[in-house]
Amino acid sequence: MRVLIVGGGAREHALAWRLRQDPEVEIVGAPGNAGIAALGRTVSIDPTDADRVVELARAESADLVVVGPEAPLVAGVVDALRNDGIDAFGPDREAARLEGSKIFSKEFMARHGVPTAGFAVFDDPDAATRYIADANRPLVVKADGLAAGKGVIVARDAQEALAGVDQIMRARAFGEAGARVVIEECLVGEEVSYHVVSDGERFVPLAPAQDHKRAFDGDEGPNTGGMGAYSPPPVVTAEVEQKILDRVIEPTLRGMAAEGRPFRGALFVGLMIVEGEPLVLEYNTRFGDPECQTLMTRWKGSILPLIQGSARGDFGSLEPAWEAPASLCVVLASGGYPGSYEKGKVITGLGSVSDLPQVMVFHAGTAIDGDRVVTSGGRVLSVTATGQTIDEAAERAYEAADRIEFEGKQLRRDIGWRARTR
Ligand code: AMP
Ligand code: GLY
Repeated sequence: MRVLIVGGGAREHALAWRLRQDPEVEIVGAPGNAGIAALGRTVSIDPTDADRVVELARAESADLVVVGPEAPLVAGVVDALRNDGIDAFGPDREAARLEGSKIFSKEFMARHGVPTAGFAVFDDPDAATRYIADANRPLVVKADGLAAGKGVIVARDAQEALAGVDQIMRARAFGEAGARVVIEECLVGEEVSYHVVSDGERFVPLAPAQDHKRAFDGDEGPNTGGMGAYSPPPVVTAEVEQKILDRVIEPTLRGMAAEGRPFRGALFVGLMIVEGEPLVLEYNTRFGDPECQTLMTRWKGSILPLIQGSARGDFGSLEPAWEAPASLCVVLASGGYPGSYEKGKVITGLGSVSDLPQVMVFHAGTAIDGDRVVTSGGRVLSVTATGQTIDEAAERAYEAADRIEFEGKQLRRDIGWRARTR
């Protein structure tokens, strides 16, 4: 069977790698990267161009299309594929609003009693400004629409919150995504990522994971797409996980179905655990990147029944199982990321890690240049290792990360610190 993977990050490489373990699966990546190309073929397209994705899926006789990133989901790529009778993994546009609109998601949580930070919605910058001036407590300002992870300002004081309103609403730094904002209470606790896959009715919980969003060690520096992740984080005890399932996942999926927008695909809930209580920071309607790399390396056996069952709206008799007790992923980024960086740097050492046991190197911003692999993006590689413990996974991942070189290579040395120093 032929699977078309839409997207070109390490998340998509990890999904392609896991799917490819079924001997009958052939992979086509669109646009893919050098790692996905090594598993099959790649075709260069704009993943948010729904007509083009459908055309490609037809031309390739794809039996299944897996959409990785949020932008094509929100653009309705899954709707277009399903309208054409093609099985597609991911939510349709209506269900993707959980991620595509912060206002929709906050109001949805309020309707269904899902625990989250208190909030207010504004379409007028002057009203938002007055609210901040009166609030006198730490606030978070969020652009309503997608802003590539940059539309959230966690303000230390009123001045930063006001600057956020200026940037998002007045200067329209994120275009129409900033026409409206959510202003919410700032929560203090430990962040976790919780994923489930749903077929619209039932769901399969995946393991909890923890991302590292800041660029530098000690959670310093600017926010990034994620510099590393590990699974499972110890803050998610069995008791906390049960609360997440009962208070967040169940009511969310039930609520979506009750509102006539059943959720099919991967639901990744960003949570703040505040004194043992989970509160939702945001919904994402896709796998997290780099969280996905840790989940795919831990998963036991074929992922196809999960992905295909979700795409078709029926899991059938699915029994999820975990192979590796722990996984840890270190992102190698281009020097300067998340700011500006140079591309085209030759990557060496990839061959020297291929023989390391329990290590997988997933490609993100890489390209093939003749017989060499070169950098082509901010996040370049996701070096991921499994182990019996987080410590063991971390040692393996860093050994591999140190064997790979390219000019300007930037990485965090402390991925998993919350688990490793506990
Ligand atoms: P979001 O895109 O909504 O997840 O926000 C991006 C990041 O901002 C999150 O991963 C958190 O680190 C932080 N954040 C978002 N909302 C809050 C909040 N209410 N309190 C504290 N931090 C937050
Ligand atoms: N790692 C966070 C995200 O994928 O949004």
